[in-house]
Amino acid sequence: MFSRRLPPDLAPNRLALRRAALPPRYDLTGSDPTRAGIVYPAELLRPLGEPRGLVHEPDPRGHPAARAAVAVEARRRGQPVDPDAVLLTASTSEAYALLFKLLCDPGEAVLVPVPSYPLFEHLAALEGVRAVPYRLDPDQRFQPALPDAPPPGARALVAVHPNNPTGTLLDAASGAALTGWCARHGLALIVDEVFLDYPLDPACAPRSLAGTGDALTFVLGGLSKSCGLPQLKLAWTIVSGPERARALEALAFAADSYLSVGTPVQLALGELLAAARPVREAILARCRAHLALLRAALAPLPGVSLVEPDGGWSAVLRYPAVADGEDLALALLEQDRVAVHPGWFFDLPAAGWLVVSLLPEPAEFAEGVARLVRRLARL
Ligand SMILES: Cc1ncc(COP(=O)(O)O)c(C=O)c1O
Repeated sequence: MFSRRLPPDLAPNRLALRRAALPPRYDLTGSDPTRAGIVYPAELLRPLGEPRGLVHEPDPRGHPAARAAVAVEARRRGQPVDPDAVLLTASTSEAYALLFKLLCDPGEAVLVPVPSYPLFEHLAALEGVRAVPYRLDPDQRFQPALPDAPPPGARALVAVHPNNPTGTLLDAASGAALTGWCARHGLALIVDEVFLDYPLDPACAPRSLAGTGDALTFVLGGLSKSCGLPQLKLAWTIVSGPERARALEALAFAADSYLSVGTPVQLALGELLAAARPVREAILARCRAHLALLRAALAPLPGVSLVEPDGGWSAVLRYPAVADGEDLALALLEQDRVAVHPGWFFDLPAAGWLVVSLLPEPAEFAEGVARLVRRLARL
C-alpha cells in the first residue's frame, strides 16, 4: 500500500517505549531551547504582529527584505553574502528536501557523515534518494575520512559544521579537502552550519564554508538554532560556486510549488535576528557552563572521557565498552530517572558511547550529570 520511502516498521524502539511509560526527571536529551528555561525578551515576537503581515507577499526564493536580512546577519559573522544567493525555507529539513530534489534523481545518492544528525537517512529516503555514509574518524577528532572516489550514483556530500553530536568543526585542511574533493568529482557540497553561532571555546571564531572552494556549495542555517526559535519555521540556504544562478533558478521553481514560509516571519526577520541576540548569548553561556561542569564531573572517572566539542549544544562521552549503550540508557532511566542518548542514536558504536545535551535547565543538568557519574563509576 505505502511506498518504500517510509521505514517498513514505524513502531517506537525499546527505549522510546520505556521513556513514554516512565518519563525522566533529569532529561539530558532535551534539545528544544524554548523548553529549557532560557529567558526570551518579552517583546521578541512583537514584529510578527505588524499589520504589514496582513498582505500575502509570496516569493519562491523568499521575500527580498528577508533575504537582505540574512545577508546582513552573514556580514555580522564576517561573511559577505549576496541577498540574491539566498533561498528561504520553512526549516533546514525542508532545505534538505529541496536540495535532494534538485541534485538527485530517484535512486541516486548523497554522502552523509557518520556519526551525525540521525535525520539524514530519513530525509534522503523521503526523496527517494540513498544516504551513503562516510566516516568521521574518532582518532582524528572526527574529521572526515573520504573515500578515494564517490560511490556510484553519488551527487552530493553533506557536512555538518560543527557536527551534531560530536561538536567538531571542520578544520581548515578538512574544509579545503572537502570542497576540493567535491569539485574534482563533480559533486555538490551541502554544509549544515546551524550550530556555527555556538563556539564553545571563547577563543574560537569559526568560519563559514560559504563561498570557499570551487564546488557548487549550499550552506544552511536557520532561526531554530541561530535565534532559539524553532517554532517560527524559517531557515536559509546560501548558494555559491559554479552553476549558482541555475541552481537558484531551479530551487525557486521547486519552492514555488510549496511557498511554505509565512509572510509575517519573513517581514520580521531583520528585527528578529537583531532582537534575539540575548537569546543566542544565553544559550551559548548555558552550553559553555554545562560543558565545564560535565568536564569536571567526568575527570575523576577512570576510563571515561569527554570528546571535547568545538561548538553546538551537545557532548559525547566515551566509557569502557563493557556495557551496551542502550542497556546503560535504560538503567539510567529506570533506576536513576535520567535520560541520555545511547551512541547508536547518532550511529556511534552500540557500546562505549553516550550523548548528552548541554541545553537543559541548570538544576536538572547538574543532578542528571551527578547521577550519570555515579552510574558510570560503578561500571
Ligand atoms: C545538524 C542539524 N541540522 C538541522 C537541524 C534542524 O533544523 P530545522 O529546525 O531548521 O529543521 C538540526 C536539529 O537539531 C540539526 O541538529
